[in-house]
Amino acid sequence: MVKIAPSILAADLLDIKNEVINVDDAGAEFIHIDIMDGHFVPNLSFGYNMVKTLRPITKKILDVHLMISPVEPFIKEFIDAGSDIISFHPEADKNTKEIISIIKKSNCKVGIAIHPNIKIEEIKEFLNDIDLVIIMTVIPGFGGQKFLEDQVQKISELKEIRKNINANYEIEIDGGINYQTSKICIDKGADILVAGSYVYGASKEEYKDKINSIRHLT
Ligand code: DX5
Ligand code: ZN
Repeated sequence: MVKIAPSILAADLLDIKNEVINVDDAGAEFIHIDIMDGHFVPNLSFGYNMVKTLRPITKKILDVHLMISPVEPFIKEFIDAGSDIISFHPEADKNTKEIISIIKKSNCKVGIAIHPNIKIEEIKEFLNDIDLVIIMTVIPGFGGQKFLEDQVQKISELKEIRKNINANYEIEIDGGINYQTSKICIDKGADILVAGSYVYGASKEEYKDKINSIRHLT
C-alpha cells in the first residue's frame, strides 16, 4: 500500500497541533514538513522549531523536506529537533556527500530531493547511500500547484536503478497530488505520496476519506 505524507504547509497553523493529530488519526504514515528559506526557493515557511514543536505530539514519521541553501550549517538542528527523515536538494550545497554522512551517523534517515530541472543521472552517485528520493512534480516553493506529469518517468528510472544496483531507497512524489495524479504515480510504482492542499483543503471530517482516496485501494 502506498504511504501518505500530508504536507503541513497547507494546514491551519492556528490549529497546528490538531491538524497533525487529525491526519495521524486518519491513518497518514508520514508528516511532511516543508522548510523554505526565501533563497533556494522564493518563499518562506518554517524552521527547525516546527519539527521540535511537532515531535512530542505524534509518533508518525516526521519527513523533513529542506528547501534551503546552504544545507550543512543547519543539519544538526534538524537532527536534534527530532526529524525521522531529512531530505535536501543536492544543488543547494557543495557538500552533498558530507551531509549524507552526517545525517546517516545520527539516528535519522536521509533523502535527496530532485527539482524538475535535475536529471536522475545527476544524482546517481548518491543512490546507494540514501533511504529516500523525492521526485518533485512541481517547481519547489509553493503548495497548490499543478502536477508536472512529465516527471513521472523518473519513477520508472529510479525503480530500474534500484533493482540494478541493489539499493533500497523509497520513492516519494511531492507536488500536485490529487485523486487523479496519485493514480498515475501508484501505477508507476511510487512508495510515498505527499499531499498538501488535497488533504488539508478539505474539512477535518474528510481527512480520512481524502487520504484513503489517494491510496486507490478499491
Ligand atoms: C512544494 C512542497 C510540497 C507542497 C505540496 O515546494 O515541497 O511539499 O507542500 O503541496 P501540494 O500537495 O498542495 O502540491
Ligand atoms: Zn515538500
